[in-house]
Amino acid sequence: MRVLLTGGAGYIGSHTALALLESGNEVVALDDLSNSSRESLHRVEELTGKTVDFVEADLTDAAATRQSLEGVEFDAVIHFAGLKAVGESVAQPTRYYRTNIDSTLTLLDLMRERGVTRLVFSSSATVYGDPLTDRIAETHQVGVGLTNPYGWSKAMIEQIIADAAHAWPELAAVNLRYFNPVGAHPSGRIGEDPDGIPNNLMPFVAQVAVGRRERLSVFGDDYPTPDGTGVRDYIHVMDLAEGHVVALEHAKPGVRSVNLGSGEGSSVLEVVRAFERASGREVPFSIEPRRAGDVASVIADPSLALSEWGWRTTRSLDDACRDAWAWQQSNPQGYANA
Ligand code: NAD
Ligand code: UFG
Repeated sequence: MRVLLTGGAGYIGSHTALALLESGNEVVALDDLSNSSRESLHRVEELTGKTVDFVEADLTDAAATRQSLEGVEFDAVIHFAGLKAVGESVAQPTRYYRTNIDSTLTLLDLMRERGVTRLVFSSSATVYGDPLTDRIAETHQVGVGLTNPYGWSKAMIEQIIADAAHAWPELAAVNLRYFNPVGAHPSGRIGEDPDGIPNNLMPFVAQVAVGRRERLSVFGDDYPTPDGTGVRDYIHVMDLAEGHVVALEHAKPGVRSVNLGSGEGSSVLEVVRAFERASGREVPFSIEPRRAGDVASVIADPSLALSEWGWRTTRSLDDACRDAWAWQQSNPQGYANA
């Protein structure tokens, strides 16, 4: 397949580009580079020895996107493009809704015009809100009591895709609900390159280990979890990337929503210890108040992806820490000095 990756220069997009190329597919990456660097895809080319076609375009500008894609062929789409910082979405709701929703509307129109029916969408476990069960299955309620515009935008886009499929029965869409993506390609050549202070745990821990930041703030140690810190289901980004390849291959008319997670929960302190083991460095931390909007525990029931597609995670949290550390050590400023 020749696959259009919107947001293809980003963290998950670049790793998925690599997985697609390695499984014999071709890649066209479309990105406005608002939160990424062209360098990530140069490195994907270097790692695979294959070419990535690149189109620079802002998906919220429908006319410009249409023009940029003139003459560019593709027969499936993976839609990563969007804004993803939870806290920023609370401060800038209209920007988040406009970017995330407008981009998707443009893309769906474009796909229909061209008769491209296969779509995989980057959704998130955030659509489940505060979980009602220890392990979250796809049948869990969605879009109830969400605490931020980012999460709402994901739930709304799932609804938009469902409505599009109703009106256009050939559409074969999969919403992949990611749990917490972490780690990097084992080469350490591509990885997560957050702009400014990282919002997410693992990149923050990595920057503390490498000496770029002084200490980690652990947001709360009074949750009803074994050690009191928040528990999440961390999934190695290469497992996640391979999940996209499998999802594309299995997409069939209609809409499926499928969790991509490991089924294992790890606390903040367990992540800190795993990173210390992987890096051989100490990660100083202090206990701080809970972060607004956080929940105690979010763990996937990943059994649907296994039964339907034969997909499961094969890499551990230790693997993710080792690979994130390889990336952090050899690229302490991310792609900035590339
Ligand atoms: P990322 O920011 O690295 O990648 C998103 C890419 O989209 C960036 O390269 C950015 O430049 C591009 N982009 C943004 N707005 C655009 C626009 N208007 N037009 C064209 N390109 C645009 O983020 P990521 O971590 O790779 O996430 C990819 C997707 O997965 C996002 O939709 C995100 O919401 C979703 N997701 C991420 C996580 C996570 O923890 N990383 C968890 C769940 C879901
Ligand atoms: N945490 C800290 N200190 C930090 C950062 C995080 O203690 O500096 C804690 C959080 O309180 C939480 C855990 O580490 O308990 C994980 O936090 P992240 O910010 O890494 O991840 P979240 O689970 O909050 O959210 C992530 C993505 C969302 C996505 C969600 C899916 O940011 O986009 O996973 O479950 F929707």
